[in-house]
Amino acid sequence: MIQRSRESGVCGIAASLRLACAAMILPVILSSSGVHAQAAKPADAPQQAAGQDGKYTDADGNPTFHQGPDKKWDWQTYSGYIRYNANCIVCHGPDGSGSTYAPALADSLKTMDYQKFTETVVQGKQNVSSSSNLVMPTFGLNKNVMCYIDDVYVYLKARAVGGLGRERPSDHEPKSKSIRDAEDACMGTD
Ligand code: HEC
Repeated sequence: MIQRSRESGVCGIAASLRLACAAMILPVILSSSGVHAQAAKPADAPQQAAGQDGKYTDADGNPTFHQGPDKKWDWQTYSGYIRYNANCIVCHGPDGSGSTYAPALADSLKTMDYQKFTETVVQGKQNVSSSSNLVMPTFGLNKNVMCYIDDVYVYLKARAVGGLGRERPSDHEPKSKSIRDAEDACMGTD
């Protein structure tokens, strides 16, 4: 279980150790937010998105979006839209469409997989040279991002390959109890 420490108190140590600390914390956060190792996948796992308690996974066991016959999006797609707008839009532009500074994530996720995505968000990425100065920040210790990283991934995946346009996915399923519980456990409720 993740400790209920405040954000500033999480691994309050020298910057040089932070990455190592993030590497230790991340699996805890991911497991408390309901991401399960692929090993748990049954042999006869369906090829299509499978839903459980309001979350959907693809054939590899990674989180994915879902749009029902009633056109309702899953909760994570909606939540990811909100979280993207809070944390990523400033550099990556509205609706994952990119800016002059940072790439269009709605394009990146056409090919980028879940692992590479989470790794980039946790560790950040830099392309600093004489001709460019591009810095993707490290979010590994930011609970407002890490507790919702699956949601952001699912939203961007829906933008990339799920037919979600630039609109807000307002017509969506309700937040399930299990999603609420996982969120409380991850964020820590006082
Ligand atoms: C301060 C600006 C900034 C913010 C905020 C930011 N990013 Fe980035 N991001 C960048 C830049 C710049 C790059 C390109 C870095 C490079 O080319 O080395 C990047 C690259 C990425 C990549 C790799 C894309 C690719 O095609 O290789 C991913 C994934 C990503 N960001 C996800 C996110 C997510 C998710 C958020 C919000 C939680 C976020 N970023 C917030 C600036 C930002």
